[in-house]
Amino acid sequence: MSNRGAFITLEGIEGAGKSTCLALVGQLLQQAGRQFIETREPGGTPLGESLRRLLLDHSSAGMSSDTELLLMFAARSEHLQQKILPAMEEGKWVLCDRFTDATYAYQGGGRGIPAARIQILEEWVQKGVKPDLTLLLDLPPETGLARAGKRSAPDRFETEALSFFQRVRQAYLDLAWAEPARIRIVDASRPLPEVQAQVSALVREFISSWR
Ligand code: TMP
Repeated sequence: MSNRGAFITLEGIEGAGKSTCLALVGQLLQQAGRQFIETREPGGTPLGESLRRLLLDHSSAGMSSDTELLLMFAARSEHLQQKILPAMEEGKWVLCDRFTDATYAYQGGGRGIPAARIQILEEWVQKGVKPDLTLLLDLPPETGLARAGKRSAPDRFETEALSFFQRVRQAYLDLAWAEPARIRIVDASRPLPEVQAQVSALVREFISSWR
């Protein structure tokens, strides 16, 4: 893939401010004259969005962790093949709300599935494709859940206990410490203008460094 577009993802627990930051990153890409698509996981394709509904709906309460993991990767496989890879090959940038780091955080940290098992699926489905830049919006789960609670009725994940989100947050931080060049931590507990300034600086630096 020569001259391919870059792949940027946003991660964080619920209420971290991903949507606001996603819109900001989109504006920055537009200002820089980069063509891009905006998408999300689970979802991004018609089949992926159907799987998303199954995954988030309360009627799926009691779904086994392995089923949840496999459905996340089924949606991801479809998303990569139908949308992400074709866009990157056309030279477009891809801006994605969550990707595989969320699987290590939620199904790994949250549900307790061993990372080695997730890695097998990652290698199978992604064949080496990984985000080029990941912004991790980090904040204490107490703060995030209070913000998310004000927004809408909780989905199947949002009804998990605080301890679940504490494990998710820790797993995200462990990923960031293991891959500091790719995963950049943003302190999302700061006031919004400060968070946006931090995101802008990181994204501008990345844009100017991209081939
Ligand atoms: P959101 O994209 O609206 O934040 O919601 C998606 C939910 O799905 C969120 O609670 C995190 C969860 N999720 C996983 O558990 N594993 C994954 O691999 C992905 C992409 C999302």
